[in-house]
Amino acid sequence: MIPVTNSIKELTLLQPDDWHIHLRDDQALATTVPHAASSFNRVICMPNLVPPVKNVNDASAYRERILQQLQSSAVDSDRKAAFDPRMTLYLTDNTTAKDIEIAAQSGIVQAVKLYPAGATTNSADGVTDINACVAVFEAMEKYNLPLLLHGEVTHDHIDIFDREKRFLEDILGQIIAKFPALKIVMEHITTSDAADFILAQGNQVAATITPQHLMFNRNHLLLGGIKPHFYCLPILKRESHQKVLLDVATSGSPKFFLGTDSAPHATDQKEAACGCAGCYSSSIALPLYATAFDSVGKLDKLEGFTSRFGPQFYGLPVNETTVTLVNQPMQVPTNYPYFDGSTLTPLMAGETLPWSLKL
Ligand code: NCD
Ligand code: ZN
Repeated sequence: MIPVTNSIKELTLLQPDDWHIHLRDDQALATTVPHAASSFNRVICMPNLVPPVKNVNDASAYRERILQQLQSSAVDSDRKAAFDPRMTLYLTDNTTAKDIEIAAQSGIVQAVKLYPAGATTNSADGVTDINACVAVFEAMEKYNLPLLLHGEVTHDHIDIFDREKRFLEDILGQIIAKFPALKIVMEHITTSDAADFILAQGNQVAATITPQHLMFNRNHLLLGGIKPHFYCLPILKRESHQKVLLDVATSGSPKFFLGTDSAPHATDQKEAACGCAGCYSSSIALPLYATAFDSVGKLDKLEGFTSRFGPQFYGLPVNETTVTLVNQPMQVPTNYPYFDGSTLTPLMAGETLPWSLKL
């Protein structure tokens, strides 16, 4: 990435929301909640807990645990007041149209997440046959509840680098054709194929993009030794895809918005013979996105991506609070304390970023 030197020293943005985050549960929340609350107002909390968040009762109990953690943390009182975790349901083979109706009417559930079974971390209970979801998708369409997709096929014989593209071809096109009014977010897109596909759809179809997929490619993951902290799913792709993602994210198109996919795994679980998938970024997400946008001279497009297009898609107002980024270097911590004496290593641990959050 070629840094562009510019004269912008400070950048005040409407407060961003994170439309895709993993906060995990219980003791993990002591680390993840203060980090998320320091940058974001609304956060869409992924439901891939063990066991998953499958119904409104699970979702409301999970939200309570997050809020309890927030109250007992050292987060500023104004950030505490602004932080607003929004819940998702985890779609299984047993989810019914009635579950969707109850979720939509609860006011607690913002969206429904589909993990193809086996696609990623904690997805064993995911959907095994999308054709069996007709009644559920109809209900989501009726109640205007967005479908959030982990867009990868899972068949063993399909190459890991082709799984997103195959999902577009084999699955997503069909869902859109059969449920034309269903709001869909293709989460954490990683390919030019996905970017082109999303651009070709109506306004009801959008995508989130993570900081790692804007800043890195598979060479960063694999060249000169394997770097487990760059390993996430969908896996980083080649540089040409990274460039297209950066193009569309910084284009001002409202179809692409912020979703960090910040996915904590303890350091020893990542730096292992069989390391977990997921990059932890929420504590430094805004400096990362600013660095990515700055690298192509598009800081003027940052606020749309971080703070306007997500609420627009979900039919929600933009936030009233603001956050300021300063063009002052920050060193990313090498790790954070995590639970049971473990640590959590963030993306770009120990490296210096040109942008930081103004405190
Ligand atoms: C996520 C996780 O750890 O929960 N991992 C990841 O690599 N992104 C799951 C997911 O969003 O795929
Ligand atoms: Zn995720």
